[in-house]
Amino acid sequence: MVKEKKKSHESPQCSNCVCEYNRLEEARFWTRIMMEHALFIKLGLPANEPKLRAEAEAFKNKFEDLLDRLYCVDKLKGDLLKDLIKAVEAFIEFKAYLLKLLIQCKAEPGSNYPLLLDHIRREAERFLGLLTSPIPQDPLTLLLEQEVFWLRIMKEHIEFVIHLLDPSERELIRQAETFRRTFSRLLETARDLKSMAEVNPKNFNTVIRFTQDVINHTLQLRNFKAAAFELAELCKLLSIVSTPLLLDHIRREADKFLDELDVLLPEVKKCHSSCK
Ligand SMILES: [Fe+2]
Ligand SMILES: [Fe+2]
Repeated sequence: MVKEKKKSHESPQCSNCVCEYNRLEEARFWTRIMMEHALFIKLGLPANEPKLRAEAEAFKNKFEDLLDRLYCVDKLKGDLLKDLIKAVEAFIEFKAYLLKLLIQCKAEPGSNYPLLLDHIRREAERFLGLLTSPIPQDPLTLLLEQEVFWLRIMKEHIEFVIHLLDPSERELIRQAETFRRTFSRLLETARDLKSMAEVNPKNFNTVIRFTQDVINHTLQLRNFKAAAFELAELCKLLSIVSTPLLLDHIRREADKFLDELDVLLPEVKKCHSSCK
């Protein structure tokens, strides 16, 4: 399952050639993401919820500790893997619990949007899936699954940014609105293509064209997030973003999406394209 980096033309068979997957690197990326989610949750909870805030802080510390451990090993296995799985499962439950409280109006929302809690819960579910289940073998299916997952995430990032910017930031909001429309469209198309791929076409050149389009738009969005982070760091942005780190966090997730496309697109070109 976990193999060394390999040029795609050397892959043994197209039916099982998703090779460039490094579970340890994935775990390091996602554990940092989990640690930051815990921080964002804590910052977003109202002051009259000290217990929940303490719980969020404990998760932050837990993932910080796990991240340290992940940087001391060269393989993800044994107790570390078990501890990581346990921590992610508990964190998913915590996020779901908070979301349920908000949906049922049993707690004051603070500044954690219900959709944000759902968003970070889904990200944690994805991490758990990577830790516990084998990767699907067919690169076309995997590519479309990743696109559907990440395009939804990208679209929601834009929606969060729109709602966190000060209303006076009209130019940035206008740019974000344009991104929102583009990513809504891309998501819808990805879902259509994923559904069509269920009939197992031998060639699916449109997916390759579409993915190139996704890469171009995601690069632009990534740069927009990076610029917003820089503005926030320099105190040149009016918003209610709790920490500039949130903007860097969503930029890193865009880069992760681009990295995953970078690995999978050549595989799909090799295995599912009729174009030479
Ligand atoms: Fe995240
Ligand atoms: Fe995210």
